[in-house]
Amino acid sequence: MTMVRDMNKRIAVFASGNGSNAENLIKYFKESSHGAEVVLAVCNRPDAPVIEKAKRLGVETCIMTRADINDRDLMLGVLEQHSVDIVVLAGFLLMVPPFLIERYRDRIVNIHPSLLPKYGGKGMYGANVHKAVVEAGETETGITIHFVSENYDEGRIIFQARTAVDPSDTPADVERKIHQLERQHYAQIIRDTLIGL
Ligand code: GAR
Repeated sequence: MTMVRDMNKRIAVFASGNGSNAENLIKYFKESSHGAEVVLAVCNRPDAPVIEKAKRLGVETCIMTRADINDRDLMLGVLEQHSVDIVVLAGFLLMVPPFLIERYRDRIVNIHPSLLPKYGGKGMYGANVHKAVVEAGETETGITIHFVSENYDEGRIIFQARTAVDPSDTPADVERKIHQLERQHYAQIIRDTLIGL
């Protein structure tokens, strides 16, 4: 038992909102054969539902302001204190400071709710993306899982999955389809790419 735990990679999830991805990841990595565990949820909004979700699942939470997150010693100190190996962004809406990207190079990933490079960049997050996709009359959209680099939404792409957008779909319909793809793939891709099983 102790041996398995020692070999597990330790994941910190960064999230800002509802936390459906964070919840999926926590649950997936509770299965010991998946080779990792979520040991910390970092959130920048004290009222975000992700905090309760993580707590309910027994994961320690840390609320950090934008200033805290940009404070090198504080931020890296929190991650070191929890011996974090991998950083996973799951609906995290602040810029990630360069020192964090550098420290976790190739060990920090993000999920974006579109087929990057389409609908990426400033202001493109969550519902804004789905609204833009519907307004543009796209016939398909999807998810992109990618390494995080200094250029927003431009890190090396690890995986994409597609879904059809029907002419009658509202942004809320598209969001549901995207969440389904996220649930289906995010944890599995992290495992395949970063856990090395
Ligand atoms: C997810 O769809 C995620 O892909 C997106 O925010 C949503 C968060 O949902 N991320 C971005 O837009 C990042 N640019 P959740 O809080 O329920 O996981």
